[in-house]
Amino acid sequence: MAEHSTEDRAGHLRTEVKLEAGEKVALCRCMKSANFPFCDGAHKTCESNAGPVIVSAPQQA
Ligand code: FES
Repeated sequence: MAEHSTEDRAGHLRTEVKLEAGEKVALCRCMKSANFPFCDGAHKTCESNAGPVIVSAPQQA
């Protein structure tokens, strides 16, 4: 299961997400998700056309 952590770097928040092999997640880029950094569908209520970033980790050999 994806793990994430957020840290302040020189006044800017930086979030790191670690995926397991073969895992796929949808990351929020509209900043409206109540489950940040993961998309929860809240982008559908935004006026912008922002949608999630889909990230997948390759399967291990
Ligand atoms: S909730 Fe932000 S991109 Fe889906």
